[in-house]
Amino acid sequence: MTEKVGTIISTEDSPTSEKISFVLEKPVNKEQFVEYDTEEGTAIARVSRVKKSNIFYHNPESVSESAKNNIKLQEQFPTDEREQLVGEGRILGIYTSELIKRPSFPPSPGTDIRLADKERLRDFLGLDREGLNLGDIQFQDLEARINVTKLLQKHFAILAQSGAGKSYLASVMIEEILDRDEEKGNVGIVALDPHGEYAGFGKDKEYGDRVEVYRGRDIKIGLSNISSGKLAHYFPNVSTAQKREIVKIISEMRQNMRNGGGAYSLKDLERKVEEADMDKKTKRIWIDRINQMKSMDLFGLYDNPSFDKVEQGKMIVLDLSDIINYKKKQIIAAYFGDRLFKARMNGKIPPFLFLVEEAHNFAPENRSSDVALARSVITRIAREGRKFHASLGLISQRPVGLSTTALSQCNTHMILRVTNPNDLDRIKQSAEGVTSDVIRSISGLRVGEGIIVGEAVDYPAFVSIRQRNSEEFETGKNLEEAAAEYREKMEEEKDEIDAFM
Ligand SMILES: Nc1ncnc2c1ncn2[C@@H]1O[C@H](COP(=O)(O)OP(=O)(O)OP(=O)(O)O)[C@@H](O)[C@H]1O
Ligand SMILES: [Mg+2]
Repeated sequence: MTEKVGTIISTEDSPTSEKISFVLEKPVNKEQFVEYDTEEGTAIARVSRVKKSNIFYHNPESVSESAKNNIKLQEQFPTDEREQLVGEGRILGIYTSELIKRPSFPPSPGTDIRLADKERLRDFLGLDREGLNLGDIQFQDLEARINVTKLLQKHFAILAQSGAGKSYLASVMIEEILDRDEEKGNVGIVALDPHGEYAGFGKDKEYGDRVEVYRGRDIKIGLSNISSGKLAHYFPNVSTAQKREIVKIISEMRQNMRNGGGAYSLKDLERKVEEADMDKKTKRIWIDRINQMKSMDLFGLYDNPSFDKVEQGKMIVLDLSDIINYKKKQIIAAYFGDRLFKARMNGKIPPFLFLVEEAHNFAPENRSSDVALARSVITRIAREGRKFHASLGLISQRPVGLSTTALSQCNTHMILRVTNPNDLDRIKQSAEGVTSDVIRSISGLRVGEGIIVGEAVDYPAFVSIRQRNSEEFETGKNLEEAAAEYREKMEEEKDEIDAFM
């Protein structure tokens, strides 16, 4: 039996079958779980409010009167003895050995309130002893171990404002997956990483052997894998007639390849277009596009990385931080997303997690599909991935800018601090179980604290994210550090010049 912390009291509006109030002997925190016994089983409630009350200070007239007369109530009366901590709680459910049900009766005033039992709470929240350990359930001596299937099968999103700890949480999750015992069932990870936030894993003492980082300049797309449909998608605004010409050329080249001719390059394609019998304007358009492709330095004979690099318990990082060209980043996301999904559909790679940082840039809500080239692939994985165990993890600091289709398919939301009202509204609309109460708590979260709602947990759970084991990769200095460093460098240079004079 856990420790008793209080006793249920009767107030004007409680107890009911939803709400209790209790006087506390030991302090508890808002959002902490407590329990009490009923005839139906053990009820679990979440503390929704803790307030102090003192009978000596109930009456405003007498308090103000004594203040006016300079009488200190503490000196006249044993006020301290009458200070009470009163908690309020929302009853979440009644736990019986087989099921969790809604309470049908209010508890009796006088019932003991205890801290929630760890084992019971684990079951109640739907946590899994064998799950990914993201930290602790706040104020509870209970690890937030999330069931892998519940988390990944129906996708998740990590949403928070900049600097709230999204990438940190994702890194903790990555560590858990990389460390997971293969026999328990594991996935491979592919991280789309526009700022190089996961590149550090490649050099990490602990995890480096299970992580391959591909820098933007080394990432290549095998041109022979690009169908004419994809080409027209990546380089849009061509007429049907112009498209027909390239379809002809590409199908011929692909046929030749299937007959043993080998993969072809951009130069080969250029030559074919040059030689082809097509009108001047069409030729110019395609040559122009081929030149655009050349300048991207992306299309080669073979894919790098090749999708068969996806392995259980390992991670591939596509580090796009050295790429400036927006379109190149979009094509990489669209192409590799599609490749992964198809390879998974054909059973060529294991179940995987496609982790997309800055997801609002790759699956934006309000941008034309000519620009947002990766959106259709991401929304497709979001809609159909579950059947094939192709999972998405979308990370974003701008939920408002993120595709509604993609976000609404993410059945688990991990929300860290968010204060922007539009983003809060969006989160409220897109995540089930996000009540106004939860929304209020989200803006009060500190770095390293989050709330998990949706499929992965049976009730919204506040989590203190654990410390990461891997070394944090420095992605940026703050402005003051950068300014100080610049000044130092200038002074050093000045000293060197002075030394010469
Ligand atoms: N759980 C945590 N424990 C300790 N430190 C943390 C935790 N979460 C985040 N931090 C610290 O907070 C800082 C910001 O975290 P992080 O880079 O993950 O934020 P972010 O939400 O990804 O920001 P951005 O949107 O700018 O990418 C980091 O320096 C990190 O060390
Ligand atoms: Mg980040």
